[in-house]
Amino acid sequence: MAIYTSILIIIIQLLLCASINSYTTKPPGTHRNSTSKLSQLDEEANALFSLHWWSIQYNISNRCNNWPGVGCNNNGSITKLSPPKDSTYVFNRDLYVRDINFSVFSNLVHLDLSQMNLYELPMGLSSLKKLTLLNLSYNNIQDEIPFSLANFPQLMVFDVSNNLITGQIPHEIAKLENLVTLDLSFNMFSGTIPLSLSHVTSLNHLRISNNRLDGELPTKILNLSQLKNFDLSRNRLLGKLPATFVNNSQLQNLNLSDNRIGGFIPREIGKLANLVVLDLSLNQLEGPIPEQIGCLKNLTSLHLDSNWINGSIPSSIGLLTHLNELAIGFNQIPGLIPAELEHLVYLKVLDISNNEISGGIPKWISALTQLTDIRLQGNHLSGVIPYGILNHCIHVDLSHNRLNGSIPSQIGHDLLYLDLNSNNLSGKKPKELDSVPFFYLNCNPFLDDGYYDCSDPQDQLDYDHHDNHFRPSKALVLIIVASVLISFGSIGVGICVLRSRHRHKLKDKAAKHGDLFSIWNYDGKIAFEDIIEATEDFDIRYCIGAGSYGSVYEAQLPSGKTVALKKLHKTESENPSFYNSFCNEVKVLTEIRHRNIIRLYGYCLHNRCMFLVYEYLERGSLFYNLANEIEAKELNWRKRVKIIKGTAHALAYMHHHCTPPIVHRDVSSNNILLNSELEACVSDFGTARLLDPDSSNQTLLVGTYGYIAPELAYTMSVTTKCDVYSFGVVALETMMGHHPGEFITTMSKPCTQQLLMKDLLDPRIPPPTCGEDMQDVLLVVKLALACLSLDPKIRPSMQDVANEILASKAPILIPFSDVSIYQLMNQEIYPIDKK
Ligand SMILES: *[C@@H]1O[C@H](CO)[C@@H](O)[C@H](O)[C@H]1NC(C)=O
Ligand SMILES: *[C@@H]1O[C@H](CO)[C@@H](O)[C@H](O)[C@H]1NC(C)=O
Ligand SMILES: *[C@@H]1O[C@H](CO)[C@@H](O)[C@H](O)[C@H]1NC(C)=O
Ligand SMILES: *[C@@H]1O[C@H](CO)[C@@H](O)[C@H](O)[C@H]1NC(C)=O
Ligand SMILES: *[C@@H]1O[C@H](CO)[C@@H](O)[C@H](O)[C@H]1NC(C)=O
Ligand SMILES: *[C@@H]1O[C@H](CO)[C@@H](O)[C@H](O)[C@H]1NC(C)=O
Ligand SMILES: *[C@@H]1O[C@H](CO)[C@@H](O)[C@H](O)[C@H]1NC(C)=O
Ligand SMILES: *[C@@H]1O[C@H](CO)[C@@H](O)[C@H](O)[C@H]1NC(C)=O
Ligand SMILES: *[C@@H]1O[C@H](CO)[C@@H](O)[C@H](O)[C@H]1NC(C)=O
Ligand SMILES: *[C@@H]1O[C@H](CO)[C@@H](O)[C@H](O)[C@H]1NC(C)=O
Ligand SMILES: *[C@@H]1O[C@H](CO)[C@@H](O)[C@H](O)[C@H]1NC(C)=O
Ligand SMILES: *[C@@H]1O[C@H](CO)[C@@H](O)[C@H](O)[C@H]1NC(C)=O
Repeated sequence: MAIYTSILIIIIQLLLCASINSYTTKPPGTHRNSTSKLSQLDEEANALFSLHWWSIQYNISNRCNNWPGVGCNNNGSITKLSPPKDSTYVFNRDLYVRDINFSVFSNLVHLDLSQMNLYELPMGLSSLKKLTLLNLSYNNIQDEIPFSLANFPQLMVFDVSNNLITGQIPHEIAKLENLVTLDLSFNMFSGTIPLSLSHVTSLNHLRISNNRLDGELPTKILNLSQLKNFDLSRNRLLGKLPATFVNNSQLQNLNLSDNRIGGFIPREIGKLANLVVLDLSLNQLEGPIPEQIGCLKNLTSLHLDSNWINGSIPSSIGLLTHLNELAIGFNQIPGLIPAELEHLVYLKVLDISNNEISGGIPKWISALTQLTDIRLQGNHLSGVIPYGILNHCIHVDLSHNRLNGSIPSQIGHDLLYLDLNSNNLSGKKPKELDSVPFFYLNCNPFLDDGYYDCSDPQDQLDYDHHDNHFRPSKALVLIIVASVLISFGSIGVGICVLRSRHRHKLKDKAAKHGDLFSIWNYDGKIAFEDIIEATEDFDIRYCIGAGSYGSVYEAQLPSGKTVALKKLHKTESENPSFYNSFCNEVKVLTEIRHRNIIRLYGYCLHNRCMFLVYEYLERGSLFYNLANEIEAKELNWRKRVKIIKGTAHALAYMHHHCTPPIVHRDVSSNNILLNSELEACVSDFGTARLLDPDSSNQTLLVGTYGYIAPELAYTMSVTTKCDVYSFGVVALETMMGHHPGEFITTMSKPCTQQLLMKDLLDPRIPPPTCGEDMQDVLLVVKLALACLSLDPKIRPSMQDVANEILASKAPILIPFSDVSIYQLMNQEIYPIDKK
């Protein structure tokens, strides 16, 4: 009987369903055609498809029309490849690249292979003679550049920044006569900068920062008449600034920070009239700041900190009315703060710290309403703290001065950090200060409440660092400069950088402000500075993904422990719905604990500093593991079933063991993460909701396209059954190896139901052979199909699903390879109907 049925099914299938043909992963229109050569366009389509950079939803036939980052010429040949950088594809995108010979894209003009995890360059790259843009940044490319740059005569933009490239900068770079942008920064280039570069007159942007270059500052290049941006920071360049800045009036950004440039700052610097950013910090510049600096009317950032400057602050700086950042800390600058600085109404950052400045803090500082960051510590300032100075600031450091009088009680709610250590303040500590997460008052002996603690030698009032030709240690300078610069970069988290001697005090603070800064919950060992250091202030290199909001970073803490961080960007944190999602996630995750639910170790929810700290799951998302050929092969049937089980348990726990029940609302293969044991962990609770039994639970539609329960489209009513549907999609996806969208839309059609289940399974791994695996796979597919019922009432609950997966399996009646979808949907495979 069973044999007849199967034969019948096979025949029907052959007749009716030839077109469906088991969800092939080959692009339509490019089926094997062994009899003749593929056309150029087909070859391009094949190669594009084999790269797996775009999601399976994109139809290869439409590649020239609506694929993000793909461009074509009129003939339909690909001219631009710039794959999207979103989370889904951020992991190991290099895997498929090895099999592709890029010479097939012979019309390519614009190629962006940045952030691809590449360890070596793809094949055939050097035959792309038409390239005008080649971006290879943010990869792991090692050794020297393996091809001749002369291969790309048309190149205008060449970016290999953020790799591990060694060796000298090739001289032949000068042959690229059309080069406009050259970015070699963040590599390990050594030797000198080829002077031939000064012949590339088209050059606009030149960045070779953060390498190991030595030799003299190449002043000839500075002279290129088109040059707008010139960044040689963080190298080992020697020499002096030339007095002959002649033909570079175009120059807008000049960053020579962190080299060994000595001598005086030439007066001729005043000729660089278009300069917007000037950074000469961390060098060995001596003498005064020339008056002529006042000619740079367009300047917004002036960084001269950490040099040996010994003249007083020129009053002409007051002419730089566009200035946002004035950083001249860590020098030997004497004198007063000039009254002319009052005109710097756009100033955001004022850093005059660690100099020899005396006199009082001028009252007009309170009137600079843009000012958020004031660093005047380590000077000889006396008198009282001007009223209102704390109104609109985020970070104020006035420590190690001789300030007296009382602490202003007017405190804005943005204030995150206030350091008043080692002054001579008196009176009461205003209670408004309690809302400031980080504040320090040690060693102010005349305060009423008695803040005498001067035990830290650095806190003592007569601290004077200038006695013996003070030159701060590089490390200290770096920390402080880094924290200054970080906060310049609009990333508010920077101000969480704290000196380590404050750590124990912070912990006391954290106890008081537990709701804001619960970062020490885990082991008491995660501290802000560890996180900032471990990610180099959330540098893109540590980014392992980006969601609909926020980016996810990986951070290795000093303890060796790795954590994952989700950080809201500043603009995002100003969006109330993103902010609410963040708070929501904290609220939900601090209330629940389950081995299959991601653990939250801590969080920072100040309006200037917004991130969550999670356990780190090595293997990344289920989606990634299924999309990736190598990982998918490792996921055998037993492992896949275990992942589904874990997910089912987590959801059953949320739905049935939490009061009120929690609905996740965004269950998808992207939000199921795997640890090193391939155990599933449900993550991303940004949209989770506590179900209020007394309300209608009406809501806006959230979730991931392709996983949303169909009834949500018209009822807008959240129930646990919405998660059940999404779970069904994920379970089926895990068994099929790709998103089952096409299958689900045709599920009710007889022709789909007559398909054999074995043809549905991921073809990349051998079909299950042992009895237990067969039973498990059948059960998972059966449950998944039940979860995908259109009517939410018919769907099982997560508790039913979890129970059934746990229960011992009944033997199946039909041979595994004969089971059809119809039979699974109608439960005809077990001896007793379990409905
Ligand atoms: C194979 O390709 C050639 C040329 O592109 C085409 O004419 C032919 O019809 C194709 N054959 C099949 C079976 O697709
Ligand atoms: C892709 O697009 C082509 C032409 O628009 C269409 O014929 C084909 O059915 C589409 N394939 C899929 C899988 O949607
Ligand atoms: C398109 O193809 C035609 C003929 O094959 C060729 O002459 C023309 O140059 C091509 N155009 C582009 C933009 O490649
Ligand atoms: C890539 O393809 C081109 C043209 O077909 C061929 O000349 C070249 O040798 C190939 N490169 C490699 C590394 O196979
Ligand atoms: C290269 O790609 C990176 C990362 O995607 C991007 O930040 C950078 O701006 C690109 N470089 C150029 C010169 O466009
Ligand atoms: C810049 O160019 C001018 C004119 O060619 C020349 O006089 C001057 O010395 C050059 N400066 C440097 C630093 O090479
Ligand atoms: C100058 O370069 C340094 C080191 O690369 C960097 O940290 C700093 O932000 C740059 N300065 C400005 C003003 O951008
Ligand atoms: C400066 O550059 C212009 C072209 O931008 C050129 O005509 C002029 O001769 C140059 N001046 C010097 C002194 O090199
Ligand atoms: C300064 O910037 C303005 C516009 O931002 C521009 O028009 C002007 O040419 C720049 N240069 C000088 C020297 O003012
Ligand atoms: C400043 O430094 C320069 C060079 O190091 C030195 O010649 C000069 O005397 C110093 N000036 C003061 C006021 O200390
Ligand atoms: C602060 O110190 C100055 C002298 O530096 C003194 O004139 C003034 O009276 C003091 N103010 C208070 C409030 O102690
Ligand atoms: C600190 O202030 C007290 C009075 O408030 C004064 O007696 C003392 O001299 C001051 N100390 C210093 C070093 O200014």
